[in-house]
Parts: sequence; C-alpha cells; structure tokens
Amino acid sequence: MERIKSGIKGLDDLLGGGIPKGHTIAVIGPFGAGKTTFGLQFINQGLLNNEKCIIISLEEERNSILESAENFSWNFSKFEKDGDLKIIKLDPEDAKSTLTRIESDISNEIKDFGATRVVFDSATLLTMMFNEEHEKRHVLFSLSSAVKNGGATSIFTGEVNANNHMVSKDGLLEYVVDGVISLDIIPVKERYEYRLVLQILKMRRTSHSRLVHPFYIKENGLEVLASLDLF
Ligand SMILES: Nc1ncnc2c1ncn2[C@@H]1O[C@H](COP(=O)(O)OP(=O)(O)O)[C@@H](O)[C@H]1O
Ligand SMILES: [Mg+2]
Repeated sequence: MERIKSGIKGLDDLLGGGIPKGHTIAVIGPFGAGKTTFGLQFINQGLLNNEKCIIISLEEERNSILESAENFSWNFSKFEKDGDLKIIKLDPEDAKSTLTRIESDISNEIKDFGATRVVFDSATLLTMMFNEEHEKRHVLFSLSSAVKNGGATSIFTGEVNANNHMVSKDGLLEYVVDGVISLDIIPVKERYEYRLVLQILKMRRTSHSRLVHPFYIKENGLEVLASLDLF
C-alpha cells in the first residue's frame, strides 16, 4: 500500500509509515484542539513535496487561512501565487449551492487542478447547514466520494459531541471516512492546566497505534509524542 507523509511530526510512525494514499480522514476534537492547524500542516507537507493542494473552507476566509499559515511560517501565499495551492471558500448560509458544488463540481475541480491533497474545514459546519439526518448523511457521502473520485487524500475536520469526545457532533462523519484521528484537550493538575492528546480511533487497511499520545502545538505546528511517559 502506498502511504503519504502527513507532515505532522511524530504521527507517521504511529500509522505504520504514513497516511494510506487516497484515504479520507476525519480529524475530530473540541474547538482549539488544533484541527485546522492539523489540516494546514498536512497541506504544507504536500506543497513542500511539490504536490497540488486544495483547501475548502466553510469557516475561515481566504485571508485568515493565509494568516494562520504564516503564523507557522508556512508560506501559503507564495504557493497560491505559483498555482500550487487553491483556497475555495464556501458560503455556510447557502445550503443548496454548496450541495450542488459538492455533487457536481468538486470532483472535477480536484482533477482539473491535479490536487493530491484536499482539506475540508469543517465537515460539522457542512452538516449543520442541513436539517434532516438523511440530508446530512447525503452531503457527507457526496463530499467523500467527490474527493475520492478526484483522486486526492483528504482531511475533514469535525467538532465532537460535548458529552463524548470520541464521536463526532453529528455522529455521522466517522462512518463515511476511512480513518478517524481524535485531538482532545484534557485537564491535568486538578484542572489548573490542560494538555493536548491525540488518538487514532480508526484507520482502514493498516495497523496503527491505539495509545493516547500527548502532542504540542509549537511554532512549527503539531508535534506528537510516541509515548505517554514523555508527558
Ligand atoms: N504559533 C503558535 N504556537 C503555539 N500554539 C499555537 C500557535 N498558533 C496557534 N496555537 C494554538 O492552536 C490553537 C488553535 O488551533 P486550531 O487549529 O485553530 O483549533 P481548532 O481548529 O481545533 O479549533 C490555538 O488555540 C492555540 O492554542
Ligand atoms: Mg478550526
């Protein structure tokens, strides 16, 4: 099986060498856990490999994404100018045209651009645009098949259920993807401090770590530790 570098320091070793090529991966966690940063770091790795990459955002505007990347010294503006990075901002108010775009355009946009990596931020905002459970499921399946048909490896970010951080908010996202990585914030020292932890909950067609791994967000992005002992 072909694998690609995630770009997240320490993660590929936990995945048996990298993310299986062509997989759709959900990165779930509460706000501030590092989901968007994870996605941008995955994109940065692609850009460094001379791959073409697409960021589809329902949350942040293009400028804000560029600024977030600059914050980690990832020069997305240059790659965008050179035609290696495309940022697509979707309108979270417009459910109908978003669905149409996902169903009929995204797959071709990925193929035409030649993108091998796609980040969708966030899948939770996408499902929140629809009221009925079957519509939510439909749009997630459409998104996942669009990026798969387009031939890209992709990351979908998702919020978690407030009562159970091991499942996504809509309870659907984990079923449409090939892999689920949880980022969580846990209180320590009698709640005077918190730590960030990562866990691989699901990864089709590969063995992987099932441990809880501490991680940090530093000036160069996420860095995952191999073992809890290093906490
Ligand atoms: N340069 C930096 N150095 C260290 N931590 C940072 C830096 N920039 C952002 N962070 C941390 O990353 C968090 C933002 O993560 P983000 O990826 O936006 O989370 P999410 O998308 O899950 O809400 C911030 O709340 C902050 O704690
Ligand atoms: Mg975010």
